[in-house]
Amino acid sequence: MRGPRLAASVVALIAAHSVSAAELITNIEARKITRLDGEWQTIVDPYENGYYDYRLEPLANGFFKNEKPKTKSDRVEYDFDASRRLDVPGDWNTQRPELLLYEGTVWYKKSFDYETLPHTRVFAHFGAVSQRAIVYLNGERLGEHDGGFTPFNFEITDRVKPTGNFLVVKVDNVRRRDGVPTVNTDWWNYGGITGPVSLVEVPETYVADYVVQLRKGSLNEIAGWVRLAGSQLQQKLTIEIPEAGIAHTVATDPEGFASFRFPARVSLWSPEDPKLYDVAVVSETDRVRDSIGFRSVEVEGTEMLLNGEPIFLRGVSAHAEAPLRTGRAYSVEDARILLGWVKEMGGNFVRLAHYPHSEAMIREADRLGVLVWSEVPVYWTIQWDNPATFDNARQQLSENVIRDRNRASIILWSVGNETPIGPARNSFLTRLVARVRELDPTRLVTAALEIHDIDDTTLLIDDPLGDELDVLGCNEYIGWYRGLPELCDRVRWKSAYDKPLVMSEFGGGAAYGHHGDALTRWTEEYQESLYEHQVAMLKRIPFLRGTTPWILMDFRSPRRQLPHIQDFFNRKGLVSERGHKKKAFFVMQRFYAELATDWQRSAP
Ligand code: GCU
Repeated sequence: MRGPRLAASVVALIAAHSVSAAELITNIEARKITRLDGEWQTIVDPYENGYYDYRLEPLANGFFKNEKPKTKSDRVEYDFDASRRLDVPGDWNTQRPELLLYEGTVWYKKSFDYETLPHTRVFAHFGAVSQRAIVYLNGERLGEHDGGFTPFNFEITDRVKPTGNFLVVKVDNVRRRDGVPTVNTDWWNYGGITGPVSLVEVPETYVADYVVQLRKGSLNEIAGWVRLAGSQLQQKLTIEIPEAGIAHTVATDPEGFASFRFPARVSLWSPEDPKLYDVAVVSETDRVRDSIGFRSVEVEGTEMLLNGEPIFLRGVSAHAEAPLRTGRAYSVEDARILLGWVKEMGGNFVRLAHYPHSEAMIREADRLGVLVWSEVPVYWTIQWDNPATFDNARQQLSENVIRDRNRASIILWSVGNETPIGPARNSFLTRLVARVRELDPTRLVTAALEIHDIDDTTLLIDDPLGDELDVLGCNEYIGWYRGLPELCDRVRWKSAYDKPLVMSEFGGGAAYGHHGDALTRWTEEYQESLYEHQVAMLKRIPFLRGTTPWILMDFRSPRRQLPHIQDFFNRKGLVSERGHKKKAFFVMQRFYAELATDWQRSAP
């Protein structure tokens, strides 16, 4: 399989958008890394006083120079060392009460020493910075990155010193009309260095990227490709999977690229048996180990097939909201709690809305056997006719796919959520779908669409984007935004496509512990009744192959102001942000128990 070669033009595109960003180094856990997590010194800078002069011209000696007075008469009006700290990774909003609603710039600084070894290269790697970053090392600009959820890195081989280095990051979370997402979202605009920061060391010629997975359509053949970067591009390299008795050797071409395809008898990864294999990509100058599950995912008419068998995706949607503490989730512990609730509900699937979640979340899904819908924040009213907006969406999508395309748990790439049908949007999303297929021809593509009302009780899925998708996602709020729960009993669903449907959002709000009768809005009883009517309706949809109710856990949102009920939280969670399960959680648990035994019998 000739994998998607990251052509020079694409590398240039990514680099062009994130000025001087080096090509993304994947699977950094397999590398020699020095973590720069922990306390960083920070300066809150709402007027970007450390970046612009009073005429709004960029400063030559801004805060990124980390200057100190040389004499007692010198004027330096900032001092990182005397400033307050923030933890990295982590959003600033939940670390300091006065920053909860802050939208602006915060400068971060970390000092470090570093001894580089001969014939090695060093990169400064960021797991995520929300929403934009300008990165400096020792006072010199390395580059910038736009997009709050995906990793990026800059090479520092020739700039890092044995002692006295200082890494400065200008982080801003200002919402922008031309941004991705744009200015209106129903989630908190967390700002900060929200992913881990690492110094990553690789050999002078290293394994830059690789894909190792079952060949599409096969259960007993592995296919993939490897690409080297550096000066010695023509090398022999071996794909080793010791437990499967595999050591397959190939030679890279003059550009450092090699594809491969070989028979493999492996235990297939599945939610019931999330088998992961130790895989090593060994070249003459580098060796990278990964943990990979082998599985196939396909559609056949309206059927979803995992490893060739029909499957129903028993899921739930989730924001990257940290359980118990709130704030942007980033840790393995956050992932374990959230995915633990998915499994406790009887789920085998999670829709990670509305943006790429942490790599820790995806790797935990691999380990626990939870299938994943991964999504980029092309959300609501994006500027569809703005080329820079498209380039940003394409860059974030590329970073998301390149980071995670060796993760068995991910089966669906979603290119958007609830976007208004129109020529510019159709073109924008169609081009994003093409990009996904270029980077990863093995997985399925979807998007969360909206319904088309034929009349009050006949709903049709006929969004033209459906032609480009493998699986249809659809958000509906019957019983919440449309009528009362009993309306579910009178609704009929139709689809213009012979494709599987995942009901990607449905549900309603309830404050945990708020009780009343089933028609009193915001009570657990109303939410429970809504779910009961929804489940009865969902069972009647013959082309339904997955459900991801909105949403696993209550989450912060600036759009939810109802006092004593919302208080800046969206309360559609089946679990409260303190970890309390609402009555509706158990409605889904019962539905999934029924499905899990033999969904062919009890579903549509
Ligand atoms: C929309 C949207 C979600 C939002 C939800 C709601 O469907 O996709 O991001 O939170 O509805 O209104 O709660």
